[in-house]
Amino acid sequence: MTTYRSPAKINLFLRILSRRPDGYHELASLFQAISLYDNLTVELSPSSEDSFSCSNPALPTDSSNLVLKALSLYRRKTGILTPVRIHLDKHIPAEAGLGGGSSNAATMLWALNQLCGGAATLDELKSWSAEIGSDITFFLSQGTAYCTGRGEVITDLPFLPPKSLWIVKPPFGLSTPRVYQALNIETLSTSTPSRLLENFQNDRPEYVNDLETPAFDLLPELKALKTDLQKSYEVVLMSGSGTSFFCVGEKRPSLSETYFVAPVNFSRRQDKNWY
Ligand code: C5P
Repeated sequence: MTTYRSPAKINLFLRILSRRPDGYHELASLFQAISLYDNLTVELSPSSEDSFSCSNPALPTDSSNLVLKALSLYRRKTGILTPVRIHLDKHIPAEAGLGGGSSNAATMLWALNQLCGGAATLDELKSWSAEIGSDITFFLSQGTAYCTGRGEVITDLPFLPPKSLWIVKPPFGLSTPRVYQALNIETLSTSTPSRLLENFQNDRPEYVNDLETPAFDLLPELKALKTDLQKSYEVVLMSGSGTSFFCVGEKRPSLSETYFVAPVNFSRRQDKNWY
């Protein structure tokens, strides 16, 4: 029995470039894994049946769960059908823009491949992963990557220097498709993604997320939360499609107990190891 950490991510910048004919959006984003983890345990099943349990009863454990989508993807691609017992211990909040479900799927692919003696190469896992979600491929990078296309075209980057952050998520969430639907493509920010990337790597970060405006249009209380957090932190940026924010700094935010609040740092994995 082996337990694998399944990290959350933040988007250090997220630019939306265009709406595509297939309904997705072309984006350019600097993704960074962080030290907020779910735990995924995968082992050979003691019976001839698969089983899947999850610590959070609010999450579905049927075939709509990305962990089971990853399992059937791996089986379809490799033909290896060994029954498995899976348990997912959740800590990453849902509808937060932290990539929790995508990370679980990537971790499942990695864990299964370990269990199956490395039947697939990392490049195969990366290319297969894009079939079940746009953000899954990132988690098969080493933790810092420049992502384009739908998000699935990844370029691994050198690790960034450690940074102390706070993740803050209000008690309400947002679904990703809703935020993308609310996006006004005519009023996006204008910074060039390659410049943003270069500036980040030269320690002149510019924090921008084009999904903040549509998220704030849908939930004005989210904008109020950002304004409030900005009184205590110089950098406050929504992650992905929200509703979580990351705040750069050491001091714990003072918020009511209904908020999810967690201190994190950047996370990474070494070649051939998991997070
Ligand atoms: O690929 P994934 O299933 O994670 O995407 C969820 C939804 O987010 C998509 O159905 C789409 O509405 C939206 N999306 C998008 N453009 C992207 C990624 C996601 O419009 N690049």
